[in-house]
Amino acid sequence: MKTILITGGAGFIGQNLVKHFQKKYKVLIIDNLSSKGIKKNYLFDYKNVNFINKNISNFSNILKGLGNIKIDYLIHAAAHFANENSIINPDKDLKTNILGTLNMLKYSKKKSKEIHLSIIIMCLWRKIIC
Ligand SMILES: NC(=O)c1ccc[n+]([C@@H]2O[C@H](COP(=O)([O-])OP(=O)(O)OC[C@H]3O[C@@H](n4cnc5c(N)ncnc54)[C@H](O)[C@@H]3O)[C@@H](O)[C@H]2O)c1
Repeated sequence: MKTILITGGAGFIGQNLVKHFQKKYKVLIIDNLSSKGIKKNYLFDYKNVNFINKNISNFSNILKGLGNIKIDYLIHAAAHFANENSIINPDKDLKTNILGTLNMLKYSKKKSKEIHLSIIIMCLWRKIIC
């Protein structure tokens, strides 16, 4: 069974992706549960689902969290979401959205022979893995 890594897998978009993909894939979630109202949920107890609590704005955290786990696909859906957040806490916004995305790109590059990456989640993921 192939493994799909979903960043932000505890969030609104991520949860739906997890629910869908756990039927055919091993799903690995990386999420720091930092969005308002986000907490561990029933999906994390599914047989094919594993949860790693890490902040993606720290590259060594990502490497530590994932170790040598073989990842086949990556969907990047972790984000500091909502426009007002960028005004209330621009540092956090930048760290997650810019640095976090850069880190996931770096991670993919490091594993480039193995991973198919999708960041523009709403448009591309169906074409890539369904
Ligand atoms: N909700 C929508 O209708 C919608 C529509 C189109 C696009 N999007 C995009 O999809 C993405 C996700 O949106 P959402 O609605 O699922 O948001 P969300 O806040 O529900 O989920 C984001 C998840 O990312 C996690 N996260 C945030 N910062 C993190 C960090 N530094 N490290 C690890 N995890 C972190 C949060 O804990 C949360 O679980 C955003 O880029 C958003 O713009 C959302």
